[in-house]
Amino acid sequence: MMTKNKTLKKWVDEMAHMTKPDQVVWIDGSQEENDRLLRQMVDAGMATPLNSEKRPGCYLFRSDASDVARVENRTFIASKKKEGAGPTNNWINPEDLKTTLKKLYDGSMRGRTMYIIPFSMGPIGSRISKIGIEITDSPYVVVNMRIMTRIGKTVLDALGEDGEFVPCLHSVGAPLAEDQKDAIWPCAPMEKKYISHFPEDRLIWSYGSGYGGNALLGKKCFALRIASVLARDEGWLAEHMLILSLRNPAGEKKYIAGAFPSACGKTNLAMLVSTVPGWKVETIGDDIAWMKFGADGRLYAINPEAGFFGVAPGTSMNSNPNAMATIRSNTIFTNVALTDDGDVWWEGIGSDPPGHLVDWRGNDWRPGSDGPSAHPNARFTAPASQCPVMAPEWENPVGVPISAILIGGRRPSTIPLVHESFDWNHGVFMGSIMGSEITAAAISDNIGQVRRDPFAMLPFCGYHICDYLQHWLNMGARTDAGKLPKIFYVNWFRRDKNGKWLWPGFGENSRVLKWIFERVSGSGNAMQTPIGFMPTPDAIDLKGLNVPAAVMRQLLTIDIEAWRREIASVKEYYAGFGDKLPQELSAQLEALENRMNGQTNVR
Ligand code: OXD
Ligand code: MN
Repeated sequence: MMTKNKTLKKWVDEMAHMTKPDQVVWIDGSQEENDRLLRQMVDAGMATPLNSEKRPGCYLFRSDASDVARVENRTFIASKKKEGAGPTNNWINPEDLKTTLKKLYDGSMRGRTMYIIPFSMGPIGSRISKIGIEITDSPYVVVNMRIMTRIGKTVLDALGEDGEFVPCLHSVGAPLAEDQKDAIWPCAPMEKKYISHFPEDRLIWSYGSGYGGNALLGKKCFALRIASVLARDEGWLAEHMLILSLRNPAGEKKYIAGAFPSACGKTNLAMLVSTVPGWKVETIGDDIAWMKFGADGRLYAINPEAGFFGVAPGTSMNSNPNAMATIRSNTIFTNVALTDDGDVWWEGIGSDPPGHLVDWRGNDWRPGSDGPSAHPNARFTAPASQCPVMAPEWENPVGVPISAILIGGRRPSTIPLVHESFDWNHGVFMGSIMGSEITAAAISDNIGQVRRDPFAMLPFCGYHICDYLQHWLNMGARTDAGKLPKIFYVNWFRRDKNGKWLWPGFGENSRVLKWIFERVSGSGNAMQTPIGFMPTPDAIDLKGLNVPAAVMRQLLTIDIEAWRREIASVKEYYAGFGDKLPQELSAQLEALENRMNGQTNVR
């Protein structure tokens, strides 16, 4: 396959010259090509085909024990100035980083094949979509990118002779000497892993890791870190958000986007099974939203991805039956456990472990063995098209008009089940302070403190987080206030004094979504409180749900003392940003404090 795109040709030649692969293969995206790559990996012992009756078209991979997750401390934003990366990113001078990396890349693909993957983030031809080219020496990356994005010939055709693309270079960093046997999962040691972003060049150079967000460069590296920079410059939003559609019994639909930090049930919420009769959730995306204003002044969102890269442990018929149906076939599993009959298993799958498994390290595992059988960050890579509740319009190039934006995290105290911002800027304030409380689940000195994660973008914002928040404020000024999505802060994770969950969560979250639907339709009942609009006591539909009135009151009270502590903690957090903090956000904090102290009217 060939391209007429001169910039692309030149770049591929330069990268091949630097990394010195044995051969260069252009990926066309066909089924035959995919089958061939999988067969090669099976023959090389890198992949295990699963039971063809239980999991047709599915494969299991096991990674190196040192390469099991995103590596935030090896992830770099190499902007020209340190200030450009801001206090929440690792910065290295781009010239120095390129010098280091050029040495590492020199010959790094020796003994391997270099694959060129043309990919589109978003439906090909959408005005919101963008094209990338990933160069990689990992066939595992190729077969994953084929599920997670749209790849191959159609993308090259769309790129044409002079189309623009984001160059994404990836090498596992494990050149092979002649006669050297390859590893099952080649990668470089931790101190040689570099997940590097050059925001001014709109360039990604990833070295040394083969796993997930470090290696599937369309996802976190392009669709969030680089795209957030493009979005700032071009006046749109690239966000770590799910997108869902909610339909009422009359058949009307509203679209909701939602930002939640990792491990807050985003995939489950995106595929939720409503418990309110006649109401239905459908999925547009589970991880990333790109949003642009349409000619009508409303914000339209696309899911730039085409698949789900979901955490397997904890996924069950109870927590997410739609994900379970999605991963029945044509799915790549990484670091889950293997059963004796060639199926997969993980902790929290909803059944007792069988008597024998092969664990994610490839060792025998029996109930009582040390450690979990699946790695806690074990993943499935599955085509979105296989999800039974995918919205029919999920690939509409126009996108879907967003009516509501949810933000949230795990907050055992303080934050009520749901509250709505007074307006856009107040919503941006809420997004700036969201986060999860550090619990005893992780060993930490900071138990009880909140790890603030603005719009869940802390590990994914490609520039200074204060400029990012200013960009959100600016976006609100670009259209009529009435056309902007309303912003809601939700918290499914409130606990009582004894640590018991107050809210049942999962499918029951549809009751809160229903109230949000009604609010954006102008019908839901709400009262003004110092922190925002909250549902009146009868506003959330609780029919058929056994949550006592006293518990509902707890879920929807404002604990003044807790909020005073919250305000003090936000002050401290904001102080860390110094002068860079948008003035509007300190004004919002002050206004909240005044409302809390009853010094001003509710507004
Ligand atoms: C993810 C994450 O993998 O947010 O989506 O960590
Ligand atoms: Mn994510």
